[in-house]
Amino acid sequence: MVSQQPAHVLVASNRGPVSYAVGDGGALVAKRGGGGLVSGLSAIGPDTDAVWVCAALGEGDREAVRRLDGRLDPADTGGQRVRMIAVPPEVYADAYNHIANSTLWFVHHLLYQTPLEPSFGPEFRARWASYETYNRAFAQALADEAAEGAAVLVQDYHLALVPGMLRALRPDLRIGHFSHTPWAPPDYFRLLPDDIARQLLRGILGADRAGFLTRRWADAFTACCTELLGGTGSTRVGVHGLGADADFLRERAHRPDVADRMEALRTQIGRADTGKPRKTIVRVDRTELSKNIVRGLHAYRLLLTDHPEWRGRVVHIAFAYPSRQDLAVYRDYTAEVRRVADEINTEFGTYGWTPVILHVDDDFARSLAAYRLADVALVNPIRDGMNLVAKEIPVVSDHGCALVLSREAGAYEELGDDALVINPYDISATATALRHALTLPDSERAERSKRLAAAATALPPQRWFLDQLEALRQD
Ligand code: G6P
Repeated sequence: MVSQQPAHVLVASNRGPVSYAVGDGGALVAKRGGGGLVSGLSAIGPDTDAVWVCAALGEGDREAVRRLDGRLDPADTGGQRVRMIAVPPEVYADAYNHIANSTLWFVHHLLYQTPLEPSFGPEFRARWASYETYNRAFAQALADEAAEGAAVLVQDYHLALVPGMLRALRPDLRIGHFSHTPWAPPDYFRLLPDDIARQLLRGILGADRAGFLTRRWADAFTACCTELLGGTGSTRVGVHGLGADADFLRERAHRPDVADRMEALRTQIGRADTGKPRKTIVRVDRTELSKNIVRGLHAYRLLLTDHPEWRGRVVHIAFAYPSRQDLAVYRDYTAEVRRVADEINTEFGTYGWTPVILHVDDDFARSLAAYRLADVALVNPIRDGMNLVAKEIPVVSDHGCALVLSREAGAYEELGDDALVINPYDISATATALRHALTLPDSERAERSKRLAAAATALPPQRWFLDQLEALRQD
């Protein structure tokens, strides 16, 4: 029997901890996801009444909501109470694809290619109305599930209006909002129509506390509020960094399926003509415009062009997993990643040496295998809220890795001292940093990697979650 007691802790996010497919014979097949929020929530233990409110993302989820009345079977969720809400598919597509991922994501990651984009007309207004509907559905579900005085942690840009809406429905609640993305500086944020920009800020300011991953993003939010609204009112703006989950990663990375993937990768990587294993430059991302995968490939190509001594001695392992494929711009970017990787392999590849090993199908065990084999980790986003890959690879790598890191990733604030830091637009500088990383003496690489791993694990997801909860209760 699924508990329907009012909850004292609630989390809300677009993507929940489980998604469903309709299998053969019509049975629902649940697939559980991972990530910081799943680990974070585990900190408050299995015996609490905490509820996670999330959206039905696709048809399988919608079917689950119909059959289970939105309250998922704990057997599917690892014991977590999950309330899944379904808005009509076209409302969801407008809210998720167009407003959240094509407008808000683009604003906060500075991704627009002006003068062609953006432009805000009647079509945008209609989609904005869907975003409001979708946010209202979350606010209502949270209001229904919350006990008197409960703490509610609302996640990310999909749900920016929820705190204000929820505050109006339930003034008794303690409400937090947390942004996992960067926040745009005022000049860029003001690309948005003025009324929408204000509505977004007021939505978040409906919370008692607005959380960000770094000081830089928190300051940008405050600057937007000051410029557009004259201040942040009574809302506290806090910084809660999120680190890698070392215990989970180290245990998971030593299971047999990862060992199998390492064997397969070692065969693909091969040996240089000296007989030594080739060096590896590893990157693992969603195929995401802000991750800057194509410039990373161009930098690698430049390294091979200008420093022929590296040909045959290095392999670039690039895992670029599918993301947001409903959007044409993401599909085009995926095609571009493939095209450039193919070009490099055609230009430089020889019998027995494939310069770029590109995988575009998601496989967590294979990602961990690549982490363990990494000599160099390449993390070069144009802009990134934090970037956990930069933190995970040094924790997992078997013999210590050098990190080439964009100064525009939130992780730079914590890892900048021991990484080789780059401007992500500067392909020449990235190529130079890759070469530097490949030639670091073993002892220096190991030392740096050890310090990176220590900094990366200082704030495990469980701490991140509990700190926010604590801060919210004390505000
Ligand atoms: C970023 C966002 C998350 C989101 C994730 C994956 O990390 O901050 O909220 O869940 O990307 O994107 P997706 O659109 O697949 O949920």
